[in-house]
Amino acid sequence: MNDVLTSEEKAILADIQQYLSESKRDRSRLIPVLQYIQARLAYIPYQSIALVAAHFNLAPAEVYGVASFYNQFRFNPPGKYPVKVCLGTACHVKGADIILENFERKLEIKEGETTPDREFSIERVACVGCCALAPVALLGESVHGNMAPSKVEGIFTRIQVEKEMEARQKSEK
Ligand code: FES
Repeated sequence: MNDVLTSEEKAILADIQQYLSESKRDRSRLIPVLQYIQARLAYIPYQSIALVAAHFNLAPAEVYGVASFYNQFRFNPPGKYPVKVCLGTACHVKGADIILENFERKLEIKEGETTPDREFSIERVACVGCCALAPVALLGESVHGNMAPSKVEGIFTRIQVEKEMEARQKSEK
């Protein structure tokens, strides 16, 4: 779980604290409150779990236990370049788990985590609708079909080149 908040996130968290102080302490509101937090921050940081636990008079582990039961909640911020590896049936039979492992090894994080610089995150997803291209990975909005372990390195090299070009264009302005 990522526990370093940006200044923007700290400000949103203060807002959330205000929101909680004006909300009922009815435990049936736990899921809607977690949904609200995720809608504001795009994930559920530990600090917000502590706030929610205090609000509903629960232990933080209890709130985390409830939240982690649902796939809809994530506990790490999405990376600037989110990597999504399809683990649907067609991709799975074509070795998608090996592709996932290669991304994990390359980025030194596990599925569900985000790199410390928040550049990349990895998650597994269900069928993304292009089974003919299995195995499939998505990087941001771009679809990479017929993935192979050897293609993982190439994807990151391309991102690096794009970043350098972007930095050069900015410095020329
Ligand atoms: S199973 Fe991966 S795209 Fe359908």
